[in-house]
Amino acid sequence: MTSARPTFHIAPSILSADFARLGDEVKNVIAAGADWIHFDVMDNHYVPNLTFGPMICQALKPHAKTPAGVAVPIDVHLMVSPVDALAGAFADAGADLISFHPDASAHVHRSIQAIKGKGVKAGLVFNPAEPLDVLEWTIDEIDLILIMSVNPGFGGQSFIDSALRKVELARKWIERSGKDIRLEVDGGIKPDNIRQVADAGADTFVAGSAIFGKPDYKAVIDQMRVALA
Ligand code: DX5
Ligand code: ZN
Repeated sequence: MTSARPTFHIAPSILSADFARLGDEVKNVIAAGADWIHFDVMDNHYVPNLTFGPMICQALKPHAKTPAGVAVPIDVHLMVSPVDALAGAFADAGADLISFHPDASAHVHRSIQAIKGKGVKAGLVFNPAEPLDVLEWTIDEIDLILIMSVNPGFGGQSFIDSALRKVELARKWIERSGKDIRLEVDGGIKPDNIRQVADAGADTFVAGSAIFGKPDYKAVIDQMRVALA
């Protein structure tokens, strides 16, 4: 059964935002058309970088709104190990979705349940060399699959082409499940490759350096939407 593809979502990653003005950056990128705010959490253990914790998520939550006051989902990507304690803290801090790397959790099914138990949508993240096998036993529990098209830890890297094949496989998993699961891709997404990623089956796109650091956020997001149309 092929489920109809959901609408495309653009999820700017604040990893590339101006950390000295994060609240303004979140408001500005939402005013520029962002659908989600992608929140890259790194612990300098699972990945060789250190970013921000639940308190920053809590501080930004009131700013994650459209100019009309509609809440914009905060899409937390945990590049941390272990997972459960931080997942719970981000759920309490206002995360709307929390995704984690299955290879970072000793008990993947239990970590998913811990996130869902807090009333938060749960996702699994797959690194470039990580197979999708764990979906066999978890696809019915999750709301989001996140395919890494760079190795996690840094923004501004180049897109790894093999991710396109994994997106196609993940789309098949979703169609077979008949469930409404979003398929997000993360890393190296630009206006000139986003269409190719969508054609492989993705419906949600993380973009950090393509947007932040540019003079006009709306111009870039509009370019992406034109490419997806
Ligand atoms: C990398 C992060 C990505 C990154 C994407 O570990 O998970 O979200 O911020 O950044 P760009 O879009 O610059 O590749
Ligand atoms: Zn990410």
